[in-house]
Amino acid sequence: MKQESQNKREGFSSSIGVIAAVLGSAVGLGNIWKFPYVTGANGGAAFILVYLVCLALVGLPVMLSEHLIGRATKSNAVGAFKKLQPRRPWFLVGGAGVISAFLIMAFYTTVVGWVYAYIFKSASGALLTNKPQQTTQVFNSLISGVAEPLFWQVLVLIVIGIIIMAGVTKGIERVTKFLMPMLFILLVIIDIRSLSLPGASSGLAFLFKPDFSKITVSAILAALGLAFFKLSVGMGAMITYGSYVDKQENLPKMAVKVALSDTLVSLMAGIAIFPAVFAFGFEPKAGPPLLFIIIPTVFNSMPLGRIFMVLFFLLTAFAATGAMLSLLEVPIAYFTEEYQWSRRKATLITIVGIGLLGSTATLSNSVLSNVLIFGKTFFDFFDFATSNVLLPLGGIFIALFAGWQWGYANVKREMTNEGQLRNEGLFKVYIVLVRYLVPIAIAIILLTGLNIIHI
Ligand code: TRP
Repeated sequence: MKQESQNKREGFSSSIGVIAAVLGSAVGLGNIWKFPYVTGANGGAAFILVYLVCLALVGLPVMLSEHLIGRATKSNAVGAFKKLQPRRPWFLVGGAGVISAFLIMAFYTTVVGWVYAYIFKSASGALLTNKPQQTTQVFNSLISGVAEPLFWQVLVLIVIGIIIMAGVTKGIERVTKFLMPMLFILLVIIDIRSLSLPGASSGLAFLFKPDFSKITVSAILAALGLAFFKLSVGMGAMITYGSYVDKQENLPKMAVKVALSDTLVSLMAGIAIFPAVFAFGFEPKAGPPLLFIIIPTVFNSMPLGRIFMVLFFLLTAFAATGAMLSLLEVPIAYFTEEYQWSRRKATLITIVGIGLLGSTATLSNSVLSNVLIFGKTFFDFFDFATSNVLLPLGGIFIALFAGWQWGYANVKREMTNEGQLRNEGLFKVYIVLVRYLVPIAIAIILLTGLNIIHI
């Protein structure tokens, strides 16, 4: 099984390329848009601590499991389970992942569309105002439009479609290797500016001084959902990327590196945003629009603000691009390998499918605002159903698979690179986590968060 099909299959060409792609997947709107507003809505520092615990004890083991499953099978999310357990329905976990990719992309591309629009709006000076009411108005008029936000969403889909069609090495790897360092440099510059604002210290206190009375069950569910969303786990994106990773790579080490770097980026995004929130007297719990309303006022107060603002939204677009590539690669790998579609055909069909589904998310701020599913607009429903239900559920099954189904010796062989790495101690900790802690913790948080059980 090991040698088959391995020759023709594309893969990442270097260790740096692997890190860039995997980190490129982790870093995205999750860090710059979601992390700040979810943290704001759930009380700040105490939430961040809960998030870090979820990340380390639950998200990280699931990420490693996905990498192991992917690399061992060199297959897409569905094919991987079929190879390891041909006669059992585990492949449905991969199938749910393919569906999740469409659902996440549906609302993700809506937001990236707004980001694209903001690159141009900031360049034109439309956002250069120190009146928050005015930035609020610019944002509301953008999202409640019809043609304008749809136009940007379609543009986003075309851009990533082109990159994906270029392939794993020439598309994904090449683009993320360029974007990741750029992103880091831009964030450092913007943090320096934000920290030098007059009221910066209350923003920092909000981010780093915990108040544990803010921790509720729904905050814990939100932290878990965010941890999964951030690390891109629970739906097979990391199985797919793992399948492009070389046998020599040290997978546990890579997963830890990625999780740490990703957390650093989230905190840096928090430092860019919260000092400004407090300096300008906003409410930290402004929700999803936080980024689009606050950030422009920060830039407005500084020399060369217009240039920095353009850079900031460009940076956000870069970050989101790497993330979208990993989401898109899940159905692409699935269609090309399970149905033998060409990469071109798979990309075109997937992009059109996402465009149709995604337009309902985009229009949920205007013509579709009255259409509710389980009491939520399309946009909120796609977000909630994936982050708070499908990703955690996927996480449970992936952990159970690695812990109980795949076989102790097989998992160990893959994690130690056939015995070459001396990480048996780590392996034992990992096995205990995926067998017991991960599935039980997710199940409890999920059922309580959804009000199915009460504690
Ligand atoms: N991690 C990305 C972000 O923070 C989003 C993302 C990319 C994702 N691929 C994923 C989320 C796969 C869940 C599953 O923006």
